[in-house]
Parts: sequence; C-alpha cells; structure tokens
Amino acid sequence: MSPIDLVRQREGEAGTDVPTFLMCSPELYEVNYIINPWMEGNVRRSSTREAAAQRERLYSAISQFARIELVEPQPGSPDMVFTANAGLVRRGVVALSRFSHAERQGEEPHFGKWFGDSGFVVRQTPQATPFEGEGDALFEWDGSRLWAGHGVRTRQCTHQWLREIWGVEVISLRLVDPRFYHLDTCFCPLFGGYAMYFPKAFDAESLTKIETRYPADKRIPVGDSDALRFACNSVNVGRVIVLNEISVELSGRLEALGFCVVQVPLTEFLKAGGAAKCLVLRLSEMDVTHAAGGVFFNATGNSV
Ligand code: ARG
Repeated sequence: MSPIDLVRQREGEAGTDVPTFLMCSPELYEVNYIINPWMEGNVRRSSTREAAAQRERLYSAISQFARIELVEPQPGSPDMVFTANAGLVRRGVVALSRFSHAERQGEEPHFGKWFGDSGFVVRQTPQATPFEGEGDALFEWDGSRLWAGHGVRTRQCTHQWLREIWGVEVISLRLVDPRFYHLDTCFCPLFGGYAMYFPKAFDAESLTKIETRYPADKRIPVGDSDALRFACNSVNVGRVIVLNEISVELSGRLEALGFCVVQVPLTEFLKAGGAAKCLVLRLSEMDVTHAAGGVFFNATGNSV
C-alpha cells in the first residue's frame, strides 16, 4: 500500500468529534537557555509555582469548551510545555516538527511517540529540515488554506512538503522581527474569517498577501503594546478567544465583533517567548474545533 493510501485509509482514525487540544504539564518548565530574545535576561527567572498556577487557569478556561489530552513532560526539555511546536495536525496525520535549535530537538521523539501511540500517521520532514509545527503553520478557520511562516525558525522549503501532505493551498509569510519568531506570535486566523495580526512582524510582500486575502472589515491589526503581550497568540474556538491579558481597547474591538474574550495572565511563559496558543496544540479538525461557534453570546448578551 502506498503511503498516500495508508494516509487515506487512516484518515480520521485519530479524529475526535469535540474540540480537542494537546497540552503538557509545566512541572519541568523553566528558562534555562536562550533561543529567542524573550529568554534573554530570564534564565532561571521564572517561578515554577506561578507558572503552574497560570497554566492551571489556562487549562481550566479551555476545558470549559474543549477536551484536553496530555503529553508527559520530559527531563531536559523545559520548552516541551509549548506543545504548539510538536507538529501540525489534520485528518489523523501529523507533520512532525524538526526543531531549528539543538536545545529543543530532544523533544522530537517524545512528541513522535505520543502521536504514534495515539493513532496518528506520523510524517517526518524530508532531510531533517527545520519546521516548528503549528507555531509556524496555521489553518484558516474553515480549513480552506494554510498560512505558513518562515524566515526565523521554519525553512520555507518545508511549505511545499505541507502542501503535498494535505493537498491544501499554502501561503508563505516571511517573518522579519526576531521577537515574533513564530507565525503564531503575530498572526491568528479567527472564526468567521477574521484575522488578528501584527503588521510590523512581516515583510511588505507577506503583508500584501494577508491584506489581499482578508477584506478590511475582517482585519484586526494590533499595535505594538498588545503585540508584545502576545495578543495574537490566541486560542480560538468558535466565538471564544483565550489569550494573555490585553488592552481594553483591543478586547473591546474583539467583543464588538461578537467574540467572547477570556484573558488569562501568562507572564511566566512570556519569559520563554510563549503565551496561550503556544501552550496548546489543536488535535480536532477545524470544523469540529469551531462547531460550537454559534452558541456563544456577545457582550450585550445577544446570541451571535
Ligand atoms: N522557548 C520556546 C522557543 O523559543 C518558546 C516556544 C513558543 N511557541 C510558539 N508556538 N510560539 O522555541
């Protein structure tokens, strides 16, 4: 049986009919090396107790509307808590990450084993090329296209591999600011065809691609201070957006569009360059993930 038949045969096998995410307990989380600008000055400066409390609040916020699977943390892999970097999932197949930095490469076999044991078809990057999973690859809310980042961690040549795995349109976006080193730190497709993004994190050509695909009334550009609070690093399930604390102005804009904004302080994880979305990997299909979208209520209490 050819690999593609195998994929087809197993498509959906690892699927779920409720929004489902993968998380990792933060008990071994700490900042003990520097692989992005956020980690500078923060080595051994995170509080294990505070990180556990913040992650618990995130876990309980997300479990209100989604199921959460857990992967065991591993000694020597403190960034494993950022499960968004494990890989990218669609139709029972995972494109497994190949980390750019040696510091994180030890996570690969643990994530690979978890996916294999959980019934996913595991695809490895050709020639061990850097690809950092959902950190750098985000499906449009309806699954119609894949937005893929490159320029800092993920190599652009892996985008073709992603296109071949799922036969989906892939739009490459170049990241130009080392503080926004993963696409999910500066770009977030949202339920209903909106997108929250930090324009300065992209080169001009990439910005044009975003602004061509999203009409002006669907674009939610964020300013420097919200971008630096990782506002774009949001977990979106239907009308709900879970994210680190943001400005009243931005939460007001999102609520006016009918979103229910749930803010969870995640300062301990910002010290490693991550927030809500980095701590979570989507396992359910996009339609399942957003299926509950219609049942939520906007700020005025009217159903939307
Ligand atoms: N310290 C981690 C790194 O630099 C943080 C990863 C954040 N994850 C994300 N999906 N943006 O790799």
